[in-house]
Amino acid sequence: MSPLKVAVVGAGIGSQHIKAYQNLPDQFDLVALCDIDPAKASQVARDLNVREVVHDFRDLLTRTDVDVIDLCTPPYQHFDQLESGLKAGKHMICEKPLLGSLSEVDRLSDLVVESKKQVMPIFQYRFGHGLQKLKHLVDRKLTGEAFVFNVDVAWWRSEEYYRDKPWRGKRSTELGGALLSQAIHAVDMIFYILGPAKTVSAFTRTRVSPIDVEDCVAIAVELGDGSLGTISVTLGSITQISRHRFTFRRLTAESNTEPYSNSREPWSISPVDKASEAAITESLNDFKPQLEGYEGQFSRFFTALQDGGELPVTIDDARRSLEFIGAVYHSNESGERVDLPLGRQHPKYYGL
Ligand SMILES: NC(=O)c1ccc[n+]([C@@H]2O[C@H](COP(=O)([O-])OP(=O)(O)OC[C@H]3O[C@@H](n4cnc5c(N)ncnc54)[C@H](O)[C@@H]3O)[C@@H](O)[C@H]2O)c1
Repeated sequence: MSPLKVAVVGAGIGSQHIKAYQNLPDQFDLVALCDIDPAKASQVARDLNVREVVHDFRDLLTRTDVDVIDLCTPPYQHFDQLESGLKAGKHMICEKPLLGSLSEVDRLSDLVVESKKQVMPIFQYRFGHGLQKLKHLVDRKLTGEAFVFNVDVAWWRSEEYYRDKPWRGKRSTELGGALLSQAIHAVDMIFYILGPAKTVSAFTRTRVSPIDVEDCVAIAVELGDGSLGTISVTLGSITQISRHRFTFRRLTAESNTEPYSNSREPWSISPVDKASEAAITESLNDFKPQLEGYEGQFSRFFTALQDGGELPVTIDDARRSLEFIGAVYHSNESGERVDLPLGRQHPKYYGL
């Protein structure tokens, strides 16, 4: 398959997407950067050597030299842009959070079927080699059943963070707070390893900054496999860490604590006994490291389109995290324990 012609929309985190595409020249040809802010777009295009800048997203829709539109725009714009892109016959890649309601996600899935084009949500943290090795062991049934997991996302966001980008910190434009915007990666990493949630009980609070979405969260959860977990999230931690700790019958796996790359190595894997240790070592000899981060996700996207295989991150994956986050918000608001899945009758089906 010849390289996919891609246009990136949004010159914030979009600049990281551009660099990743440029590092994959056999798979992607970066055609254009689109941003409504002309000065910012020109600056990023100059710095990163992007050959064309456009200012109106709609101009991308009619172009025959664009196969894929990659949305790095604020969350409240995602649905309309995804819908327009699919209807124009483009494959779409979209930054997290994909959308702000399950009803929109389900409408999007219908649009994918109608358009026969693909939508890939971004969850680039998945592809770190530490997490990928654990996934390798889980898939080969070398971990035994999961007992407990403990996840901490302790990051820092200053008042300038919200002042600089007015869409942040507001429910109408960011659609949620620390859990939806920041810890959603950590949540996806849990479900990627262990599968979906069954019951949650949670508190969410706004304690760090004068914003109208949560910046502190405490969650207790039972997953479908019976394992239990805790997730704590804050945006008020002066020392920043991310940590995943999984306790299985045959091994304990613990990530490093680098806040924005804890899915990468090093991870510690502690086997229960010598036999387990030997089986793990032998199995990891077969582990074939692929690219990590955005490059890892984009290169797998290309391969999936080329081979007709499953996308590395699917709409269902994004839906699973959004459904969990809806349950967390509902538990906090109602003071109740919330069971999943949330049906169409549930108040959080139509908005988080
Ligand atoms: N996966 C990650 O690790 C990660 C990291 C940061 C941000 N994000 C997500 O990426 C998205 C963007 O976040 P950001 O931090 O880059 O925001 P940002 O505000 O820094 O950048 C967004 C850019 O989009 C432009 N823009 C807004 N509306 C537009 C439109 N209609 N057409 C064209 N350009 C438009 C803005 O001018 C701005 O330059 C959000 O959904 C955010 O949650 C993901």
